[in-house]
This record gives sequence, C-alpha cells and structure tokens, in this order.
Amino acid sequence: MKFFLDTANLDEIREAASFGIADGVTTNPTLISKEGNVDFKQHIAAICEIVKGPVSAECTSEDTEGMLREGHEYSKIAPNVVIKCPLTRAGLKATRKLSDEGIRVNVTLCFSAAQAIMAAKAGASFISPFLGRLDDIGENGLLLLQDIIEVYRNYEWKTEVLAASIRHPIHVIEAARMGADIATMPFKVIDLLFNHPLTEKGQAQFLADWRKSGRK
Ligand code: E4P
Repeated sequence: MKFFLDTANLDEIREAASFGIADGVTTNPTLISKEGNVDFKQHIAAICEIVKGPVSAECTSEDTEGMLREGHEYSKIAPNVVIKCPLTRAGLKATRKLSDEGIRVNVTLCFSAAQAIMAAKAGASFISPFLGRLDDIGENGLLLLQDIIEVYRNYEWKTEVLAASIRHPIHVIEAARMGADIATMPFKVIDLLFNHPLTEKGQAQFLADWRKSGRK
C-alpha cells in the first residue's frame, strides 16, 4: 500500500519524506488555507520538489469549464501534479475530458460505491472515499472502502483506490487488510503508526542494562 501525506505543510512533508515513506501528497482547499496566504501554484510546486510521487491539487471552480481551466493550469506546475475534481456531475465531466488528455485526476468527496463506479467510468486515476467523515455521521467508512475494492476487483478499471479522511492507525491497518492501493493520512497518523509503549519501554530497559554493565 502506498502512503500519501494528507497535508500542505512543507515541514511535515519534509519530515515524512525523510522517513522514506512518502509516496505522494494530497491537498485540499482547507489544507492549503491552513498554510496562510501562500501562492497556490508556488506552494504546490514546492511540494512537488520534495515528493516526486503524485501530488493532488484541488480545483475550486464549480463548473466543468472552470475545472478544465484549472486542470490545464495546474498540470503545468510539475509532471507529478494530479488534478483533484469533486464527485459532482461537473467534476466527472471534467474528469473525463482531463483523463482523455492524459492528465491524471483524483476524484474526491466520494461517499458511496455508486459514486466510485461513476468516477471509474469517467476515467479517474484515483478515487478518494472519505472514511472519517462517514464515521463522523455514524456510518462506517471502512465498509464503503470494502465495497469499492470489491466492486473494482470485477473489472479492469485503472482507477486506484485512495483511502482518504483517515483519522487513526486502525483506518490504515484495515485499509491495508482490504488491499487499498493508497492511504492518505495526516502527519499525526503517520507518527502514531510508529508508536507502541512496549517499544519505548523495551528500548529504555535495553539501554539501561547496557549502561549498568559499565558500557557507554
Ligand atoms: C484528501 O484527499 C481529503 O481531502 C482529506 O483526506 C479529507 O480529510 P478530512 O475529512 O480529515 O478533512
């Protein structure tokens, strides 16, 4: 399973890249706005310098024409830019056109298997089901992920399943168990994946015993 960073923060992206596990980055308008008044295209270019895998830049137009304009503009930033379009009728029309032109599209805001089928039919390179946001309203995001993976296995669609809106390590483990192609996660979730109290305790004990024996 590939790991994408779900952040627009350059320090977090650099840190995750230094672990050697950042296969890509996803951004959205909320994540970009958290970085302050940055120039969008320059910021995406800076991310693309750090991570050579797919970097999602999200359209903010609501109509197909606007999304196509943005898609053409953003795809010139760097070869690894992926255009993010919402799972709306306008977004899927833009997805079809952009993917026909060879521009990769990540279809975002997916909350049903039916929507995921539509995105694959429209030629999406990635489909982003939002696990955490479904959990937030009392549904089960992981069941949606499972449905999508099961349906996609029946066909030769090229669309990769990108588990998004990940909130904790269990989402990551279950996504891996199901065979999701990618999990995109905030830096704090990546950090949590390293942790186990017995690892820290064991390491402290080993080092204490080593020093007790007179070694440095
Ligand atoms: C990524 O592509 C999505 O925009 C992101 O995972 C959404 O996460 P959130 O539901 O935590 O905002």
